[in-house]
Amino acid sequence: MPSSPLLRWGLPICILAIAFVLAIRQQQQPLQQPLTTSATHCYTSVRTLWPTNDSPKCFTVSSDGSFSDVFTPKDGEVPEDAVSSEGHVIPGLWDGHGHLRQYGEFLHSVDLFGSSSLEEVMVRVKKYIAENPSAGSKDEWVRGIGWDQTFFGRMPTADELAQDPDLKGLYIMLDRIDVHCTWVSPAVLQLLPPLPPTVPGGEIIREPGPGVFCDNAMDLVLPLWPRPNPAAQARQVRSAMAALNEVGLVGMHDAGETRKNLELYRELASHDEEWTVRVYGMLECDKRNTFCPEDAAVVAGESDFLTVRSVKLFADGALGSWGSAMLDPYADHPDTSGTLLINSSALTTVTSQWSTAGYQVNIHAIGDLANRNAISAFSTALERLCPDPADFASCQRATHRFRIEHSQIIHPEDQKLISSLSIAPSVQPTHATSDMKYALSRLGSERLAKSAYRMRSFLHVHPAPLILGSDFPVEPPNPFRGMYAAVARRDPATGLGSPDKPDQGWHLDEALTLDEALEGFTKGPAWGAFLEDRAGVIKPGAYADWVVLDEPLEKTDVESLRSLKVKETWVGGKRVYARA
Ligand SMILES: *[C@@H]1O[C@H](CO)[C@@H](O)[C@H](O)[C@H]1NC(C)=O
Ligand SMILES: [Zn+2]
Repeated sequence: MPSSPLLRWGLPICILAIAFVLAIRQQQQPLQQPLTTSATHCYTSVRTLWPTNDSPKCFTVSSDGSFSDVFTPKDGEVPEDAVSSEGHVIPGLWDGHGHLRQYGEFLHSVDLFGSSSLEEVMVRVKKYIAENPSAGSKDEWVRGIGWDQTFFGRMPTADELAQDPDLKGLYIMLDRIDVHCTWVSPAVLQLLPPLPPTVPGGEIIREPGPGVFCDNAMDLVLPLWPRPNPAAQARQVRSAMAALNEVGLVGMHDAGETRKNLELYRELASHDEEWTVRVYGMLECDKRNTFCPEDAAVVAGESDFLTVRSVKLFADGALGSWGSAMLDPYADHPDTSGTLLINSSALTTVTSQWSTAGYQVNIHAIGDLANRNAISAFSTALERLCPDPADFASCQRATHRFRIEHSQIIHPEDQKLISSLSIAPSVQPTHATSDMKYALSRLGSERLAKSAYRMRSFLHVHPAPLILGSDFPVEPPNPFRGMYAAVARRDPATGLGSPDKPDQGWHLDEALTLDEALEGFTKGPAWGAFLEDRAGVIKPGAYADWVVLDEPLEKTDVESLRSLKVKETWVGGKRVYARA
């Protein structure tokens, strides 16, 4: 998800939202105890993801919140001072690509995901307004996310947001499912200055009527939107963290935040007892795809709960809105091959600037042209920075760890380059299962079969596991749903596979095993954040983060991953979530 449209995205806090936050606080506070001394915990089983000869059942957490010992009790006797509990432990889970603040905003806005008609969109907006009577004014727009015009058969229009008497005159701004387009009401449209005929890198939709703005054209609308204040943002972030802990997440990579928002994170992380998710933040300059070292210097730093040492760039848009930049035209839109947000030479320049300054560079690339440009930018940077021209791959793995966010459609020749340079693909398994309904028509069968939605093909790119994530709030953050999508290649919401053969997984040749998927939500993101041996494993010296399940994950039936609910989540030796 590009964060530019979302940077300023959010909602003034409403009565419902406050009630929600209070509910979470009440639930959380009794669970959090200050950790003053070391503590030993024993469970029915402990999966460490770290090679050990025996099967440990216990671990000790030291007062600094890391594991100090992992062991099998002698003669099966649990130590006297240990807390012994039922349950099967896995390392705390990480999402390798999400949007924390926007997820909090999403939790406080109109949820349009899955709305299959314009009528359903209206019903949901009206329900939200009934629950949030102050929303819709000039100072407090109604915000929402999740509509998808593929359900409507055409783009929606502003007028359609004013036909209902309950909605007339309201300020409404609703983001497309992939956040690459936004749809506004006539009241918002009236605030805009006369529109230019075209916008480079963007599109003003005019058919069947005005109201939708895509990619760079969204910047015409966003500056007018009244942003939530810092206190509201803080509440939204806390809501997001509580919801992430609930699905077993202990860490996440925030794929693009401005300096201002990363400063807010730092403020909250330093004071807030409720900062319960480890965040690996990627900086996005206020002006997208630029070099802003002064801003980076202000927010760069590493601590247990917030690390910033990387930047996010955007090569293109998204497939759903024909915005991803392709080498060849779309099969269902032969007059276009999508839109690059930055040309190849400029991308190479800005990548070299950031990497020379010591930052990890993570490029959003969906289409095969965008991916080619990203690989070429990384390759040039490695040539410039690596001492041994015969071994860029080792240098990339040891020092730079350049990543391609999404890595969705990649020409077979470029897949070889990714491999030989050890460039890290960061993949969202649920994007594949959400896109499968239109991927064939957009791409045609040849491109779909050879270039798109790789996972298994990337496993051997380098010794580290794949970096898996969800892109929340674009998809739900539940990592077990991500594992399901990766293993079964079926939609976790419905259990359905290929559009033509719903009882079969979609392109199963690219599926992962459950163990590979688990590593993709633990060790993969840890590696992608330079945190190997610190996160995603249970071993001495690692963060004491773990998740308790009712049964061992490896014995869990794949179909039941869809509805799996974790029992407990622990971060830094403290329990942050317990199932009621
Ligand atoms: C690429 O973009 C840069 C910056 O917008 C521009 O100065 C340059 O002329 C462009 N190069 C090409 C080859 O289009
Ligand atoms: Zn994203």
